[in-house]
Amino acid sequence: MTKLQTKIALLPGDGIGPEVTNAAVQILEDCASAFGHHFEFRELPFGGNAIDQCGAPLPDATLAACRGSDAILLGAIGGPKWESLPFGTRPEAGLLGIRKELGLYINLRPIRLRPALRGISPLRPDRLGDCDFEIVRELAGDIYFGEHKITSEKASDLAEYSVFEIERVARYAFERAAARKQHLTSVDKANVLASSTLWRDTVTAVAREYPSVKLDHLYVDNAAMQILLRPTQFDVILTGNMFGDILSDEAAALAGSIGLIPSLSRGRPHQPALYEPIHGSAPTLAGKDVACPLGAIFSATLMLRESFGLDAESQWIEAAVDRVLEQGYRTADIAEPGGRVVRGSEFTAKLRGELREAPAQHARSGA
Ligand code: IPM
Ligand code: MG
Repeated sequence: MTKLQTKIALLPGDGIGPEVTNAAVQILEDCASAFGHHFEFRELPFGGNAIDQCGAPLPDATLAACRGSDAILLGAIGGPKWESLPFGTRPEAGLLGIRKELGLYINLRPIRLRPALRGISPLRPDRLGDCDFEIVRELAGDIYFGEHKITSEKASDLAEYSVFEIERVARYAFERAAARKQHLTSVDKANVLASSTLWRDTVTAVAREYPSVKLDHLYVDNAAMQILLRPTQFDVILTGNMFGDILSDEAAALAGSIGLIPSLSRGRPHQPALYEPIHGSAPTLAGKDVACPLGAIFSATLMLRESFGLDAESQWIEAAVDRVLEQGYRTADIAEPGGRVVRGSEFTAKLRGELREAPAQHARSGA
């Protein structure tokens, strides 16, 4: 069994960020001791707390430490305290800044329903099916990063894409689809937008490199409807930065709660990737120990698989999560009538107990 020695930059952020990342770190530490790995964590200011401590949401020292790490685990950022700051200096600017600085142009958001949580989806079970698809969102371009102009009378935001930017994220999405059910749905607004027209043409051209993958295109308004009408038609969805932001929240609701969905943001292979739950900092829940730690815990298991190749370790944790959910333990946001609603820290403690009961070797069947 290969022992891994690895450095993880920890960016707990604001609101519920610190509590959920703390839960993920405990689980990663259990994993390290069960499998003989060593994860070295370095905690850094980022977001609103970095504005308070260092005067900027992405301090140079935080960025440098992220560059020097093997992976980055982020909680969530933002809150009412920093909302009145001038545009471009808020915690969100730190998030966009780190994506840009580290060249994180791919954002993967897996939409996967945990079997024990079928009942909390707002969709009827016959429509929901297995609900297992992935959204690949372009993360470093589009209206997010085009020129923003604002005066007291007028404002504009420029949506721009180059062929190069579309090709590199499209290749990643085709590769994901090739490794799954060979079906890629590209989402755009090519009936109205020039940037979407280039998007559609470029994705269609890249498709020639992946003859095993069936490609189709949907306009974003139709895609938003199809996600609710018939989610089983999707395998991998590829879309731009803005549409991906919106569709991934919608898709997360299908899985029962946005609190459950992790994400991977990465650039070129061999550079540190960033993992974060897709939920926000939920300031009204912060400090009450009610937040669901699963988005952060699944971000950690995604990290184990995607950055470190530790599939068995990741499965070992996810199987234990499913057992805890099957026993009926739920945080408030994923509760069902008759279930046992526990605090976030109790859920994590329950999960750690379950991990202690499941010797690590058992996860490595045949190893
Ligand atoms: C996300 C978030 C961010 C985004 C915000 C916080 C800047 O909504 O990661 O989905 O819009 O990308
Ligand atoms: Mg979002």
